[in-house]
Amino acid sequence: MVKKFQFELLATDGAARHGLISTPRGDIRTPAFMPVGTAATVKAMMPESVRDTGADILLGNTYHLMLRPGAERIDRLGGLHRFMNWARPILTDSGGFQVMSLAGLRKLTEAGVTFKSHIDGSKHELTPERSMEIQRLLGSNIVMCFDECPALPASDEAVAESMRLSMRWAARSKEAFGDRPGHALFGIMQGGVTPELREESAAALRDIGFDGYAIGGLAVGEGQEAMFGVLDYACGFLPEDRPRYLMGVGKPDDIVGAVKRGVDMMDCVLPSRSGRTGQVFTRRGVVNIKNARHSEDPRPLDEQCRCPACRNYSRAYLHHVFRAQEMISGMLLTWHNLQYYQDLMAGMRDAIAEKQFAAWEAAFHQTRVEGDI
Ligand code: GUN
Ligand code: ZN
Repeated sequence: MVKKFQFELLATDGAARHGLISTPRGDIRTPAFMPVGTAATVKAMMPESVRDTGADILLGNTYHLMLRPGAERIDRLGGLHRFMNWARPILTDSGGFQVMSLAGLRKLTEAGVTFKSHIDGSKHELTPERSMEIQRLLGSNIVMCFDECPALPASDEAVAESMRLSMRWAARSKEAFGDRPGHALFGIMQGGVTPELREESAAALRDIGFDGYAIGGLAVGEGQEAMFGVLDYACGFLPEDRPRYLMGVGKPDDIVGAVKRGVDMMDCVLPSRSGRTGQVFTRRGVVNIKNARHSEDPRPLDEQCRCPACRNYSRAYLHHVFRAQEMISGMLLTWHNLQYYQDLMAGMRDAIAEKQFAAWEAAFHQTRVEGDI
């Protein structure tokens, strides 16, 4: 008997929720942050180190893996978990969003999207059916519907038309996904920053019926205030007893604001990408390690952090290896940033469980200063 995919709500505080997703590959404590492992690696990290930071689940990308090394090849090699040596849950994005932001020469039709690879210019097609097949070949535990995310700002008509196409694709995704015990399929709400369209999209997804519901089409240039505005009503359109996933978000304060409004899961390249560009997230704010004023600073990045970068190295050392473009720089800073994000999530989970979220949030904002610290 395969263990089921299940979501249990453990505590709420205002709109904020703390819960547990169980899957055959392990549990996911929510609110959860998913590090991004686009090309079958969280860049600069060993998978066991990613786990050490407290991550329960990783995100992988259909688009990148279908182009290189190919979904069929990963399947022949035993699936993505074995291929990348991460035995715990993996959520895969469905590809459409990445086609729009990365691929060359795209053509969108009712059937799907044809595009040229950003790697070698070769021609490919993605449809809801092919996206489901690729995510099955990868062995993804949480499969995302194939959708289209319009760039904002766009006219209401354009956003409505795109959203309705995504809802037709959601129905086809569900049909193609079929019945796969232990595996989950999430729908993706679209509709831009228009309440009526968000409501229509949520209703369409609820009618089809999914294991979880994502909020897509945000963090695409609308700004934090507009994004929070959407989350204020959008979470209310979704079933209470299913996980809610805000895609591609975000900075620490975006994440805190999203959790406050009822989001359970998030992913973003920010902590890992910033680790490679010298931008460091700490309890007191952002540190730019490139800055000359760290060159003789014997203090750790963050006194309260238990990651190896903070336990074993000074800001002066991290500044030096960053300037010298040593590989350990990306490794240590990525580890720290992922540790910071996971500690942030753990802090919120505890605060919600104790019904102290408002106080926790006030302290979060009070501890931080703007600009480089
Ligand atoms: N990642 C960030 N936003 C989106 C979205 O709207 N759809 C998908 N599939 N992925 C995303
Ligand atoms: Zn650290």
